[in-house]
Amino acid sequence: MCNLKSRLDGKVAVVTGGSSGIGYEAAKELAKYGAKVVIASRNETKLRTAKENIINSTGNKDVMYKILDLGSLESVRQFASELYLEDKIDVLINNAGAVGLPDRLTLDGLNLTMQVNYFGVFLLTYLLVPMLKMSSPSRVIIGTATSMYLGEINFDYWRNTTGRYNLVTSLGSSKLADALFMVELHERVWDSGININGFDPFLVRDTDIFGNLDNFTSVVSQFLVNMIGREKTNVGAELAYLAASPDVEDVSGKYFKFCTVWYNHWLVNDKELRRNIWDKTKEIVKITAVEEWD
Ligand SMILES: NC(=O)c1ccc[n+]([C@@H]2O[C@H](COP(=O)([O-])OP(=O)(O)OC[C@H]3O[C@@H](n4cnc5c(N)ncnc54)[C@H](OP(=O)(O)O)[C@@H]3O)[C@@H](O)[C@H]2O)c1
Repeated sequence: MCNLKSRLDGKVAVVTGGSSGIGYEAAKELAKYGAKVVIASRNETKLRTAKENIINSTGNKDVMYKILDLGSLESVRQFASELYLEDKIDVLINNAGAVGLPDRLTLDGLNLTMQVNYFGVFLLTYLLVPMLKMSSPSRVIIGTATSMYLGEINFDYWRNTTGRYNLVTSLGSSKLADALFMVELHERVWDSGININGFDPFLVRDTDIFGNLDNFTSVVSQFLVNMIGREKTNVGAELAYLAASPDVEDVSGKYFKFCTVWYNHWLVNDKELRRNIWDKTKEIVKITAVEEWD
């Protein structure tokens, strides 16, 4: 049902985490329909292979890769500045994310899982908003997950604390933060021609998402997800559809799951909470006067 049908020639799409799993499938779909695609993640070998595979399977040579580590504020800023060399960005898909990371702080002094899954996503999107405005109508997808219902809001734990969260709570809290961010960003930019939506893939088979877990947990998790999970090609196609199809060009501020507007977390309705987290996050990621737009 949610498949792209119209061509995307002339469009520029950025897919974080486009080197494997859902992001790779979405990037391939966008390239198949003619978009110029930039995939980004940490591992250059994986990125190069993904780029070659996308070109070979779609015939679209307009595929680039760039290095991005969401766990480093410096890397995010570097990546964003490289993207400003493009003429425009029509689509930004914030898909990259990780599960089961070590419970430690990053070099920026932030909780690793929170930085990779939330602070890095916030910073990248914030930095690109001026370009997305110039490129409007444009779209942003914020990747979320059903695990957000198991998360909690505790900014002190998100920031510079370890030893407080188990694997599920840390993942859930980072995805809950993404859900709040999605709605707050929508409120702040939808009238500039940027549509923002959340995407929850549910459970997806055969991706690399459990690669950070210990061997036993990884095998068991993969087994369970492979029993009830969805095909990554279908999920990637759904993500590409949401990011680029004219069918959904007027939809913004919604949370999508199974190709449908789904029930978002109840806390996204708390405006004060959203604004508070927005302001604190700007401080944490050290938005400068030059970067500031809101
Ligand atoms: N699979 C599921 O069942 C499922 C369910 C709910 C939500 N999700 C979400 O869907 C998204 C994609 O997951 P997937 O299942 O496709 O997993 P995947 O195959 O592991 O893909 C994750 C992608 O993110 C990149 N990445 C990881 N850490 C990064 C970092 N610090 N900086 C930049 N890029 C990073 C990875 O590349 P490198 O490691 O080379 O950097 C890879 O390209 C994730 O956000 C995940 O939380 C997945």
